[in-house]
Amino acid sequence: MPGARWPEGGENKGIAADNLGKGTMGKEALSIVDQRTQAAYEIPIHDGTIRAMDLRQIKTGPEDFGLMSYDPAFMNTASCRSSITFIDGDKGILRYRGYPIEQLAEKCSFLEVAYLVLSGELPTEPQLKEWVADITHHTMLHETTKKFLEGFRHDAHPMGMLASTVAALSTVYPESREVLDPKVRALQIRRLIGKMPTIAAYTYRHSLGYPYVYPDNELSYTENFMNMLWKMVEPKYIANPVLARALDILFILHADHEQNCSANAMRSVGSSHADPFLATAAAAAALSGPLHGGANEEVLKMLDEIGSKDKVPAYIAKVKAGEFKLMGFGHRIYKNYDPRARIIKWAADKVFEVTGRNPKLEIALELERIALEDEYFIKRKLYPNVDFYSGIIYQAMGFQPAMLTVLFAIPRTVGWLAQWQEMLCDAEQKIARPRQVFTGQAARDFVPLEKRGVTAAPTAA
Ligand code: SDX
Repeated sequence: MPGARWPEGGENKGIAADNLGKGTMGKEALSIVDQRTQAAYEIPIHDGTIRAMDLRQIKTGPEDFGLMSYDPAFMNTASCRSSITFIDGDKGILRYRGYPIEQLAEKCSFLEVAYLVLSGELPTEPQLKEWVADITHHTMLHETTKKFLEGFRHDAHPMGMLASTVAALSTVYPESREVLDPKVRALQIRRLIGKMPTIAAYTYRHSLGYPYVYPDNELSYTENFMNMLWKMVEPKYIANPVLARALDILFILHADHEQNCSANAMRSVGSSHADPFLATAAAAAALSGPLHGGANEEVLKMLDEIGSKDKVPAYIAKVKAGEFKLMGFGHRIYKNYDPRARIIKWAADKVFEVTGRNPKLEIALELERIALEDEYFIKRKLYPNVDFYSGIIYQAMGFQPAMLTVLFAIPRTVGWLAQWQEMLCDAEQKIARPRQVFTGQAARDFVPLEKRGVTAAPTAA
């Protein structure tokens, strides 16, 4: 949509966020005294972190295993060093490889951003041409894969079908297990990016009992996706350019988001050197959860449940009473407005000019208005996230609610693959295997069957 006024980005024009904290007074180290032994330790600080392994030396004696860090859900733990995506949650900043999301969404195509996220640089014209041709060349599915889809019920959830079918591709490309070979990785990356829209469209056509539509290599990435979804008997599918561009922008906004739940799944499964199809299936499984990518579908269900603007206050009262969460609100990192939500809201207006206004938007705007003024949400820094408005725009474009997380998975495959590749190429990384704090029974001897229950044994859970 060239020439349109663009929403103000969240970019901080002050000190570059990357340099905050550098050049401070003291030594970059912690001095720790273990009160149990009075022993003193100096733990170096690197990039605002301490190495958890540096805690292991802190012991009460030679038998002591040493200290570990304990961080359920990794609230304050960096699992890796990454140069792909930078988020400043307080300032509402999101950048892929240094470029602000607002600029990329305005000026790039999705495949151009995919190249950037994966390679680290925006492509030159020849590089982009070759990249688009490569991806286009890999949009077809092996015919046996269609038979695999036939095994699903008509009402199977598209995310279950997508994750399973992506995993099945592992059996079609066994050479993909050679994950340390850059050429093998490059080919699987192109296959996955090319085939995700095809699989997604086929799950949709399967659920409606429609014939599958083969990819049309003359169309752009998003136009071809729309073709495979919605072409009926016309000889050539013509995508609405406004909707195709809106889809491209939505895909750009969803491409990566640093170490989110599904990226963590991709890195963890990939760290065992499983092939990228099985790792991507695991990431898609993580994304499907309602607290993560499944939230966009839940937002639509929530708006349907509310039903009308005048019922919003009563619903919010239930949220504040802790009965359920306000879907599409809140974020682990963004404690300010999610910059993607702002752009999606802007894009929604352009889509509604074509599709007509989605009546759910009025309810969503009222929810946002009330929530942003309410102490409960302000205190908890709960703002609309990427899922709050995406569902409304997708539904207006003609997508069924169950397809929404699939629409998240297609572009996020690029981010998962970039994170996966970065992990494999990181000399510091190895198979992910967290520790635990053991809270179970101390050693005890076996109890023969006839003697069980004699003492007050705990009842089975
Ligand atoms: C995505 O990580 C990413 O980057 C994810 C993502 C990406 O691009 O990959 O951005 C995509 O997953 C977006 C998030 C989509 N999920 C939702 O919209 C579901 C609703 N949101 C929540 O479930 C929640 O906000 C999370 C999961 C997103 C974040 O949860 P946190 O960081 O673990 O926060 P929390 O659960 O500890 O909440 C802190 C407080 C709690 O209240 P108290 O116990 O202090 O009283 O805020 C409350 C929570 O109950 N709270 C909410 C709420 N989210 C948090 N209360 C009401 N409604 C909500 N949505």
